[in-house]
Amino acid sequence: MLVTSKQMILDAQKGGYAIGCFNTSDLEITKAIIVAAESQKSPVIVATSEKAIQFGGLDSLAALIKEEGKKANIPVALHLDHGQSLAMVKRCLGAGYTSVMIDGSKLPLGENEALTYQAAVLAHTQDIPCEGELGALGKVGKSESQLTNPEDVLGFVKHTGVDFLAVSIGSLHGAGENENLDIELLKKIRAFIDVPLVLHGGSGVPDQDIRRAVSAGIAKINIDTDIRHEFTKDLREILKEYPKEQDFREILEKVMVKIQALVERKIKLFGSANK
Ligand code: G3H
Ligand code: ZN
Repeated sequence: MLVTSKQMILDAQKGGYAIGCFNTSDLEITKAIIVAAESQKSPVIVATSEKAIQFGGLDSLAALIKEEGKKANIPVALHLDHGQSLAMVKRCLGAGYTSVMIDGSKLPLGENEALTYQAAVLAHTQDIPCEGELGALGKVGKSESQLTNPEDVLGFVKHTGVDFLAVSIGSLHGAGENENLDIELLKKIRAFIDVPLVLHGGSGVPDQDIRRAVSAGIAKINIDTDIRHEFTKDLREILKEYPKEQDFREILEKVMVKIQALVERKIKLFGSANK
């Protein structure tokens, strides 16, 4: 069934586990994510970045994910990941997204608060939850992170009315090798606020750190790069293994099985199986 992300994340926070938020850009990955969540009896968030929206087209991608979500026998939310503008938030709300994120993390604090507040108001008028980000995640090999300042979180949550807060605690976007999390920083942040906390840049973070982060209060974990890399790697390998196969669907079905297995592993790691 298609639902908002609000209750599933609140339940995760209460139950001490995290919901996986998996990025998609197409039919194959969307189906693999939902089949994996069904097999694990887990709620799931299917997310599209602005780049994915550019690739697949907003209405087409939204229609696809909503349809697959409605048919699923587990709760599925359709989420805008790293929305950069109010215009994009509006477009996604209009297309039936059931969860949105506004990312003002590169702006000065006051401007981030003002933008996030406006996005939250827009979302809330349609009963849709809104995620904001405080502190900024760097990209593997490209930019440095700005860790979240725990002193800022209470004011940010109060001034914006966000439902969930993405924090920067050591992970990076992309799959790097030294993405160790600062669990003490996470605990300090947690002590100031009780809105559910979100870990971005989930690819590349060691399993042990993921478990510790979930125990310390992370209730939603975003995974993108691992899925895209897995897709490309599997596609190369399977094409090599079946050089005579002419029907691309036979090839893609084999890739989808591997993506499903990856998502199932993450769901088990995050603790949301059978929830
Ligand atoms: O918003 C998406 C995530 O933060 C994904 O990060 O590409 O490192 O898995 P990742
Ligand atoms: Zn992210």
